[in-house]
Amino acid sequence: MTSGIKNICCIGAGYVGGPTMSVLADKCPEIQVNVVDLNVARIKAWNSRDLSKLPIFEPGLKEIVERCRGENLHFTDEVEKKISDADMIFISVNTPTKTSGVGAGKASDLKWVEACAREVAKFAKGHTIVVEKSTLPVRTAEVIKKILEASASSVAETKNASFDVLSNPEFLAEGTAIKDLEDPDRVLIGGENEKAIEKLSDIYQRWVPEEKILKTNIWSSELAKLTSNAFLAQRISSINSISALCEATGADIREVSRAIGTDTRIGSKFLTSGPGFGGSCFKKDILNLVYLSNHFGLPEVANFWEEVVNLNKWHQNRISKLIVKKLFGTVSGKKIAILGFAFKADTNDTRESAAISICKDLLEEGALLKINDPKVSPEQISQDLSQKILTDKINKVKNPINQTNECCYFFSDINKAIDGTDAVVILTEWEIYSKINWSEVCKTMRKPSWIFDTRSSISDETLRTIKKYDLNIWRIGDGSVK
Ligand code: NAD
Ligand code: UGA
Repeated sequence: MTSGIKNICCIGAGYVGGPTMSVLADKCPEIQVNVVDLNVARIKAWNSRDLSKLPIFEPGLKEIVERCRGENLHFTDEVEKKISDADMIFISVNTPTKTSGVGAGKASDLKWVEACAREVAKFAKGHTIVVEKSTLPVRTAEVIKKILEASASSVAETKNASFDVLSNPEFLAEGTAIKDLEDPDRVLIGGENEKAIEKLSDIYQRWVPEEKILKTNIWSSELAKLTSNAFLAQRISSINSISALCEATGADIREVSRAIGTDTRIGSKFLTSGPGFGGSCFKKDILNLVYLSNHFGLPEVANFWEEVVNLNKWHQNRISKLIVKKLFGTVSGKKIAILGFAFKADTNDTRESAAISICKDLLEEGALLKINDPKVSPEQISQDLSQKILTDKINKVKNPINQTNECCYFFSDINKAIDGTDAVVILTEWEIYSKINWSEVCKTMRKPSWIFDTRSSISDETLRTIKKYDLNIWRIGDGSVK
């Protein structure tokens, strides 16, 4: 299978651009793949000799980067040159929610996408296929096409330039990005020009079976991406809403999930109750759907989807309130260990992590937080919480908490994080947290001690043994523990 594409440029070296292009380069050694970004520090990190310093942590990623980097995979800030060398360009830049102006708080801010389109229009040579990889509102391809065509006819250097625009949304989930990219459920390609669609499809067919490559019109492709995220998030809000009911009624959310998930029509995935969904996309993509629905005069549709986000917000807040309530109505001056800050396991990404809102609530109530996460840096946590963070490494004193008035501490050692606390709150499902020896660590906690497990990291079996120790347990959606 040969696509005829020899040189690819991907604009945006983030969570999508980096892993996606690494896998593409690995699967297609005859294609030169250049990943460009304006963020020089990020590019530098992608080029780190020490592969543990890559800007993104994903299981399996560093092995691919090690194999391909410098061969047919390149990370560079030479945006102009790499655009002009390319015969296919992926736009994989950020599309956050607008913070001001029309649609603020809901609509996507397309300024980065538009900037890319203008750069492509300015520097591309010959026929170029432009692929939307970013998640975009329906009909964005039209905007991109207009910019490309307007510039192509007006800019002297690009007289020979012509363009096709395709939509090829990405469905990878962080933490499993490499697996998702190497063995996707489907690849979606939307477009008008069959030849262009075939060229992109031929690339994917190097490793994806043809029947998994879905070809649609461009608007269906754009809308399918938003809808897919909305459906996934909706399942999480659904199960989280039921977890609250389980706690009130004595039912157990794990049993309810299993019981409903075995119905093949419902399916078992995305039925794990947790502290509320995080990640850079679910909230922003649903809000975008809400904005579009209102824009097209469909307020009932908009309201339906907005409730998914509202429920998520309520659920996160419910957890912080519950922690305060269980700790005799006040956490002021109390030490609380926070286990996990990433929005899910196996990633260093904290964007929209439930940990941010829950920690902020607890700080607001006056708690002292002792935070641990195996992959998130203390600098990132400090930025997310807008708080100075003292780390156990910088601070060599035995118990830094007694030495200062600061209220956020980072501990790379789990036991040190738990030492002297009134409560432990598990917020990310890192595997190491399911292996904690509670019989030992509980001895170092102040009594009465609490564990708040929002991730079901504590198995039923461990729960039975823990109950023998001097520990109070709250587990998400578990009506049997009060
Ligand atoms: P990100 O913020 O990690 O990366 C985007 C990168 O684009 C940044 O490094 C930024 O510096 C760069 N950039 C912005 N404008 C640029 C320009 N004009 N020229 C060069 N570089 C530029 O974002 P991400 O998480 O990779 O997401 C990218 C898109 O993919 C978003 O639309 C997102 O919704 C979508 N998406 C994300 C995921 C995910 O798991 N993160 C999954 C599927 C889809
Ligand atoms: C999600 C989608 O799963 C991807 O298909 C999509 O490409 C991506 O968004 C995107 O467009 O950005 P991601 O956010 O990386 O991927 O991770 P998920 O596994 O979907 O988890 C999102 C959040 O939901 C996490 O906070 C996770 O802990 C939570 N979650 C997930 C649950 O609480 N319960 C579940 O059963 C599943």
